[in-house]
Amino acid sequence: MNMPTDTRALYDKTADNWARQQPSSLSDYTARPQVMALCEPLAGKLVLDLGCGEGYCSRMLRQRGAQVVGVDVSERMIELARQAERAHPLGIRYEAADAVTADLGEASVDLVVAVFLFNYLDVEQMRKTMANVHRMLWPGGSFVFAVPHPAFAFMREAAPPFYFDVGSAGYFSARNKLFGGRIWKRDGSALDVQLVHKTLEDYFEGLRAAGFTAMPTVTELTVTRQMVEMDEKFFGPLLDLPLHLAIKVTRA
Ligand SMILES: C[S@@+](CC[C@H](N)C(=O)[O-])C[C@H]1O[C@@H](n2cnc3c(N)ncnc32)[C@H](O)[C@@H]1O
Repeated sequence: MNMPTDTRALYDKTADNWARQQPSSLSDYTARPQVMALCEPLAGKLVLDLGCGEGYCSRMLRQRGAQVVGVDVSERMIELARQAERAHPLGIRYEAADAVTADLGEASVDLVVAVFLFNYLDVEQMRKTMANVHRMLWPGGSFVFAVPHPAFAFMREAAPPFYFDVGSAGYFSARNKLFGGRIWKRDGSALDVQLVHKTLEDYFEGLRAAGFTAMPTVTELTVTRQMVEMDEKFFGPLLDLPLHLAIKVTRA
């Protein structure tokens, strides 16, 4: 079993396995393109990518016309993001900081993006971060985030290409507990990931408490028939399972 560990240590240690310029892991197909679609229109927008890792989504946002700042708690991830920026300059700025505690300014950006950040934070940390995000957005600005679908871990055995090992825990008793998991790349290698489980109520109550009052757009993401046609061995085992949630909410 892959045991959970300190987030920053996990990502400093495994950062090099995440570095990529092309889609490689399962969620590069099943989540990130769908998140980008939710972020549009991006041309000319000021965007903050929270938990940017080695910059994969920051680069996608920039290539769609946004001005991007990426923030991540892992210094090694930020080092790799800056290396990619030096190799192929896009004008993205990267900073090492903790999304929960950093002072990231007020009413200064059009869009905040957080792709698989909240599964590393407990409920209280997520609520603080959502409140920070609300403060950072201009009125009319949006927050787009992706998280593991809250039901997924309880519907899935510990097998490729994606799982979280919740053992015998149930949906409610697992709340706010940390579990290890793995997500595979199409080359057959695996990445260690973590889940602090949250219920659906946690996400929507967190947004409400942060000050978001508009109805969010919620997309439940899974593998598509086209993905299975492209690579049945890889995507086939997850057909019909809810994998991730992508949520967009706009600040009034
Ligand atoms: C699964 S990776 C996703 C990276 C990137 N968003 C992507 O989609 O490729 C999660 C990232 O969240 C970062 N992270 C976790 N906790 C954080 C925190 N409190 N503040 C900032 N970044 C954090 C990790 O260091 C890691 O790079």
